[in-house]
Amino acid sequence: MISFILNNQEIHTEEKSGTTLLDFIRYREHLTGTKIGCREGDCGACTVLEGQLAGGRIEYRSIVSCLTPLGNAHGKHIVTVEGISSGQLNPVQEAFVEHNGTQCGFCTPGFVVALTGYTMDYKPIEPKKAIDSMSGNICRCTGYKSIERAAITVANVLADKNPDNPIGWLVSKGYLPAYFVGIPERLAAIRKDMATPENGGWILGGGTDLMVQRPDDIAETNPVLLFDRQDLKGIRAENGRCIVGAAVTATDMKESLLFRTYFPRLDHFMYLVSSEPIRNMGTIGGNIVNASPIADLVAFFLALDADVHLYHTKTEADRVLPLRKFFLDYKKMDKEPEEIIHHISFAIPGERTYFHFEKVSRRITLDIASVNSAISIEADGRDIVKAHVSVGGVAPVPLYLQRTSTFLAGKPLEEKTIIDAARIMDAEIAPISDIRGSKEYKRLLARQLFYAHFLELFPGKIHAEELVNVF
Ligand SMILES: Cc1cc2nc3c(=O)[nH]c(=O)nc-3n(C[C@H](O)[C@H](O)[C@H](O)COP(=O)(O)OP(=O)(O)OC[C@H]3O[C@@H](n4cnc5c(N)ncnc54)[C@H](O)[C@@H]3O)c2cc1C
Ligand code: FES
Ligand code: FES
Repeated sequence: MISFILNNQEIHTEEKSGTTLLDFIRYREHLTGTKIGCREGDCGACTVLEGQLAGGRIEYRSIVSCLTPLGNAHGKHIVTVEGISSGQLNPVQEAFVEHNGTQCGFCTPGFVVALTGYTMDYKPIEPKKAIDSMSGNICRCTGYKSIERAAITVANVLADKNPDNPIGWLVSKGYLPAYFVGIPERLAAIRKDMATPENGGWILGGGTDLMVQRPDDIAETNPVLLFDRQDLKGIRAENGRCIVGAAVTATDMKESLLFRTYFPRLDHFMYLVSSEPIRNMGTIGGNIVNASPIADLVAFFLALDADVHLYHTKTEADRVLPLRKFFLDYKKMDKEPEEIIHHISFAIPGERTYFHFEKVSRRITLDIASVNSAISIEADGRDIVKAHVSVGGVAPVPLYLQRTSTFLAGKPLEEKTIIDAARIMDAEIAPISDIRGSKEYKRLLARQLFYAHFLELFPGKIHAEELVNVF
């Protein structure tokens, strides 16, 4: 039995947990404000909010319902466009009307829900972040400027929101229906255990890869759902290492105080990864096991020389191996079918460790990389003590650049070292031409991103003019 609250209504259903939340909302509950566009997480027309209790409060995040297995809604508050206003337009809807942010209207519920979700965040409202909250939504008609103006108006109208109690404040102003106030208590009363027998053999995290690839097969089953497993959640420091649960999402990484300490530019790095709702759903375990050569989180953790901690669901045996040894060939991994990733771990970066992530894609958000790359360098000001470099999109697997990394260790931190290392990298990679670019273009990108790491991390010490045109 799957139980959750849909807007103001309690749902208890025996539907298959692998069916999509979108189909349940539209075809079982007949809430047709949630639209079907691409069914691949790309357009945002199906955006809904997912609210869950965390640390004594309720937190809402936007998700795409087309890729959400129904079982991932268990124990949560799901909010559709029908649930965000009570008889009158809310400030987000009013702003869309005022600025002509809607034309044919097909995309509008998705935009409105995403932006409304942002207003419910426990942070003061910022116009730029209001616009970014709709990074997962595509509109074919408006040209976006009118939508951006609507978002800026919303940020101004709600400027004095109480970030300690956003829901209470929005309700008190009549901006959200009153039923929202009682949701935490109602959620707490829902049975924690979903009690649905798993069958069909599918394993799902957020569903943002597998629900694109095999939606019809999964819809007939009750897959193994890892997304809400508490033992796979959380980021913590332990004995000099950082432990990151396999069900941690890119948003969890972005919000983690530990990660924000280790990686001061984290906001920028995560902004380059997919879009707001996909970051809210996609897990680290899923990013690794999907084994895409351009997986962004894999590139990130390869450069931290992370370890993968596997758990065998039949024998209950644990196994640890370096992430750089996990990928064997295209979509082939050192992993038994019964093994799941439990967590990953990496040495906590020291004070002299510098980290950087870069990505080039055809669109800044909502697009996978042509080439991505990350680096961590331990440097003492004059010399490089140790380095780990990764690059994606230039081989059948996400690449840890073993020879380049080894070469950098012990070398002076100067332009000649970087140019020599780039030559070694060029011999280590083997890109192919595909829709994301020709092999020559990808080689060029890999080199430019490699240079960019040093230019961003050591401005003033490393000079761009000494790196160009010398290769
Ligand atoms: C619109 C869109 C944009 C995207 N943009 C990006 C992007 O910019 N960068 C990027 O890197 N990716 C991107 N992705 C891909 C995807 O979001 C990520 O790879 C994400 O991290 C996958 O995680 P998931 O939990 O959703 O995976 P799922 O789809 O749930 O699972 C993927 C695979 O991993 C397996 N699996 C999941 N968790 C575990 C585990 N703990 N142990 C063992 N096996 C497991 C599943 O069985 C499945 O085979 C995008 C996807 C979409 C739809
Ligand atoms: S239908 Fe396009 S993102 Fe869901
Ligand atoms: S208003 Fe037509 S797609 Fe956005």
